[in-house]
This record gives sequence, structure tokens and C-alpha cells, in this order.
Amino acid sequence: MIVVTGGAGFIGSEFVRQWIAEESSQLVNIDKLTYSGNLENLAAVGGNSRHHFVQADIGDQAVIEQVLHEHKPRAIIHFAAESHVDRSIHAPADFIQTNIDGTFRLLEAVRAWRAAAPKEFKFVHISTDEVFGSLPLKAAAISESAAYAPGNPYAASKAAADHLVRAYIRTYDLPAVIVHCCNNYGPFQFPEKLIPLMIARGLAGESLPIYGDGLHERDWLHVSDAVRAIRLVLAGGRIGESYNIAAGQACSNLQVVGMLCDLLDELRPQSPFKPHRQLIKHVAERPGHDRRYALNADKIARELGWQPQVSLLDGLRQTLEWYLGNKAWLENVVSGRYRQWIADNYGWRNKRS
Ligand code: NAD
Ligand code: TYD
Repeated sequence: MIVVTGGAGFIGSEFVRQWIAEESSQLVNIDKLTYSGNLENLAAVGGNSRHHFVQADIGDQAVIEQVLHEHKPRAIIHFAAESHVDRSIHAPADFIQTNIDGTFRLLEAVRAWRAAAPKEFKFVHISTDEVFGSLPLKAAAISESAAYAPGNPYAASKAAADHLVRAYIRTYDLPAVIVHCCNNYGPFQFPEKLIPLMIARGLAGESLPIYGDGLHERDWLHVSDAVRAIRLVLAGGRIGESYNIAAGQACSNLQVVGMLCDLLDELRPQSPFKPHRQLIKHVAERPGHDRRYALNADKIARELGWQPQVSLLDGLRQTLEWYLGNKAWLENVVSGRYRQWIADNYGWRNKRS
């Protein structure tokens, strides 16, 4: 039995789908179902008796303790978070609440329950490259020991959560591992992040807003590769250590959006919006916009044998094909109708299924 937090979100739901398809043990999925939590992401595992869903806030210590006592998990993989930088710029409070206080309450629940935990218990904390802050363009990729220098409220809240986990490792012997992940993309990603937003807007013939000069670099990793890495860290990552996960294929926002435009032209040959590159529009710079993220992932390759499998071009093509084949998902998410889908299909709040 393992517990996943945030398993109705983008990366968490990929983890749940992989786990149910490829492992044999049970999984408890704790998710508050915020705007980005969507049970439609879990339709593939909906009827599976090894998947147990609990709608709860990670900050609700009593409920978390109850789940831990009931299921005695051998691991917790902590994905739940407020995850979008732009939202954190406009309204940081939820980020402080969930990412810092929520992680703290979750850690306290684990600490209170620890004596009853299985001997092999492990806490895997999912963090981000953003805690290390902005690198200059062309700077070398950084290792796990780089100094923290978060540059926006989201990054700062994740850095604070990391520090809490590190403190619990040292102070309370929490058997934890931290994972720093670069930008993920793939199916089921909420269309507020760059790649799904550009797909949704490109399909609708709307402008594709590029912040500033568009030369900012991100290292894009397909979510299936990220989750395979996280599963390897769960299985073999050393307690007290951090592991970078990165694709090593950093490119500028203009490059990645240009690739998507060309794929849209190819996969939608009848589109009236061709060539889609004409939709690209430079807009005002994002406040505090980090120039470049680049992680060195040698450690996970060396220790755990992880290598990404999906190239950026193949991954973007597969992702676009997925959005084209799942227009109802996209429309439901954009319109907010998935809330109704949840009510129709599950008809509950704060109930277990
Ligand atoms: P997401 O926004 O798609 O999903 C977050 C999930 O957490 C949602 O299902 C939401 O309902 C749930 N949640 C939010 N607040 C909660 C709370 N208080 N209690 C319980 N559940 C709550 O995010 P994502 O992109 O899947 O990111 C998952 C994790 O990976 C986050 O910790 C994020 O910081 C980290 N990360 C993401 C990326 C990326 O590119 N998406 C990169 C590096 C790290
Ligand atoms: P995003 O997907 O928000 O991830 P992060 O900020 O966590 O890296 O953004 C990725 C990059 O794309 C980032 O440099 C900001 C840029 N961006 C745009 O230029 N326009 C947009 O509309 C969005 C959402 C992002």
C-alpha cells in the first residue's frame, strides 16, 4: 500500500495510472480536487479496486493521520501543490497555504503516526527546478547541491516546503527523499501551463502569448519519463538525498511554441489558422520571469539507471495528438464542466470510493 497526494492532478494522475497498470499493490490517492484536480484524469483507473480515492486537504492533519493509521502505507509520494507560477504572482496566498502549511501539516501527520509505520517507510517529496532560481542563458546545468534562490512566490513556497522536509530528515529522522523536476508536459495537463495553453489557443485560432522576448529557456520532460524517474527514486533513492530529473533538451519558449505551430499545421492541414506561427504574439514580460532552468540529472542516471525515453519532438507530437483526440476533456476543463462530471460520476464530497 502506498499513499499519493495530488493524484488527480497532471503528474500525480500519470503516477496513479502507471502504478495501477504496472504494479500489484494498492494505492490511496488523497486530493482536495482544487481547480486543477480532475477525476476525469483517473477515468482509466476508476473501476480498479486497488485505487482508493479520498477527497481531503493535505492540511487536514486529523484526516491524514486517520488515513495513515487505516492503510499503513510503506510510502507517501507527495505531489499535491498549487503549481502554476502565473497564479502565484496574482494570488500567492493559496501557495503559502497548501505548499508550505499543507506540507507542514502532512509532515506532522507522518510524525505523529511514525511509530506505527512499516519499517521500510519512505516519504518522496516532489519539488521543482524553480527552487534554484534563474540561470543565465548558456550557463551549465546545475547539480542537486546548488544553492536555493527562488524567484517567484510559487518557487519560494516550494523551496520552503523542501526546507521543511530537509529539517524533518535531520531533526526527526524522517526517511525522505526529494526530487527536483524540470518542466513537464504531456496528456491531461491543465491548459494554463505553456504547452497545453498554446495547444488550446492554437486550436481555437487565438493569439499565442509569449512573455517578453521569448528567449527564456525551459527543459521540457515528457510526464511519462518524469513518473518513471519518480518510481525509481521510490524504489531505490537513498534516504536524505535529492535527485534532479531533467531531459537535457532545454529550448526557448519561442522554439517550443514554433514546434507546436508546425505540428498544428501538419496535423490540422485544413485549419483556417495556418500557418499557426502567425498567431504568435509577444506580450508584456512576466514579473520576476526566470531566464533559464537547467538541471544536471547525472546522479539519477548513475545511481538508478534512469534515462528519458521520449524526445521533445515525439513528445510534442504525441501530446498534440492526445489533445486532438480528447477535445471533450479540453472543453470540459476550459468550461469548468468537469466539476459537473465529478458530481454525476461520483456524487460525493468528503466520501471515499
Ligand atoms: P497540478 O496542479 O496539475 O496538480 C496538483 C494536484 O494537487 C491537483 O489534483 C489538486 O487538486 C491537488 N491539491 C492542491 N492543493 C491540495 C491540497 N491542499 N490538498 C490536497 N490536494 C491538493 O500540478 P502538477 O503539475 O501535477 O504538479 C505536481 C507536483 O509536481 C507539484 O508539487 C509541483 O510543484 C511539482 N512539479 C511540477 C512540475 C510541472 O512541470 N508540472 C515541474 C516540477 C515540479
Ligand atoms: P509555465 O508553463 O508557466 O511554467 P514555468 O513558469 O513553471 O516554467 O511557463 C513556461 C515558460 O513559458 C515560462 O518561461 C513562461 C512562458 N509562458 C509564456 O511565454 N506565455 C504563457 O502564456 C505562459 C503560460 C508561459
